[in-house]
Amino acid sequence: MKKEELNLKDLLVLAPMAGVSDIGFRTIASQHGADASWSEMLSCRAMLHNPKKTEYMTVCSPSEKLKVGQIFGHEEDVMAKSLSLDLLSHYDAYDINMGCPAPKIVKNGEGSALMKNLPLASKIISACAKATDKPLGVKFRLGFDKDISTEFGKMCEESGASFITLHARTTAMGYSGQADYDAIARLKANVKIPVIGNGDVVDKTSFENMKATGVDGVMIGRGACGKPWIFDELKGKSLPKDRFKLVERHVEILRENYDEKWLTMYLRKHFLWYCFGMEGASEKRLAIATSQSINESLKILKEILK
Ligand SMILES: Cc1cc2nc3c(=O)[nH]c(=O)nc-3n(C[C@H](O)[C@H](O)[C@H](O)COP(=O)(O)O)c2cc1C
Repeated sequence: MKKEELNLKDLLVLAPMAGVSDIGFRTIASQHGADASWSEMLSCRAMLHNPKKTEYMTVCSPSEKLKVGQIFGHEEDVMAKSLSLDLLSHYDAYDINMGCPAPKIVKNGEGSALMKNLPLASKIISACAKATDKPLGVKFRLGFDKDISTEFGKMCEESGASFITLHARTTAMGYSGQADYDAIARLKANVKIPVIGNGDVVDKTSFENMKATGVDGVMIGRGACGKPWIFDELKGKSLPKDRFKLVERHVEILRENYDEKWLTMYLRKHFLWYCFGMEGASEKRLAIATSQSINESLKILKEILK
């Protein structure tokens, strides 16, 4: 996809979530209304030094519509170079993570640490924009400890970004408090490139509130955990009747790609999300959280979800 071909108007987007948005989850979300999906954040250094190790995170599904590969790093040359790797060639667009609050990322001057270093953030965006013909986005927060989102968004635009995504919390807030939708509306009013709004969209009311900011696209992360069909729900489409079947499909896709032992641990969180709030689930949570067998967990989930 060329930069000028990107259209994010009214798109519903599955957020990048490291350790969560695996190929199975992205497939189910895409088959249930997600118009675009982001990869988990991918380290540019790791990809350049040992592409094989990151490969498993870059596998996409034919169901995914607009596929966005999200990269992170702090060296503009390394980051620009990573965009020419075969590993990333199947993505329709790229995105740079400038919002991650994780201490080990921030300590390296990456993720949301770049919101404290606008000259470097600008250099990274310019170098990456020059390195690819594909649309290039930047995903950021309000700021590190105060709201600089409009200034930061304008810098992204001037540096060559084709779109931006705002998770409207500061790094200092982590995931606490509420996303500031007024800041999203201010950002949208101050830039020409498309804006994706993100933070706390979990139902029709929050979705309408987010749309009222004037954003082009809406991104959903935690609201899709255990409920990857939320995109269909927000589009007013009918909900899946057999949720267990979708859970089985999620597992089946992951089994095609990953080792069973690793999956047994990995899938626990998804299983807990799938049964969250369902009748009879609370007594079974411990069994799922400590399960040593995917098939055992599936048996429990079948009882809860049917
Ligand atoms: C477990 C988890 C992992 C995340 N990983 C990433 C990531 O890799 N890249 C990124 O830009 N944001 C990441 N985020 C942030 C989400 O993309 C999103 O901005 C945030 O959760 C707010 O949106 P929500 O309220 O819809 O969840 C992550 C969030 C969670 C909960």
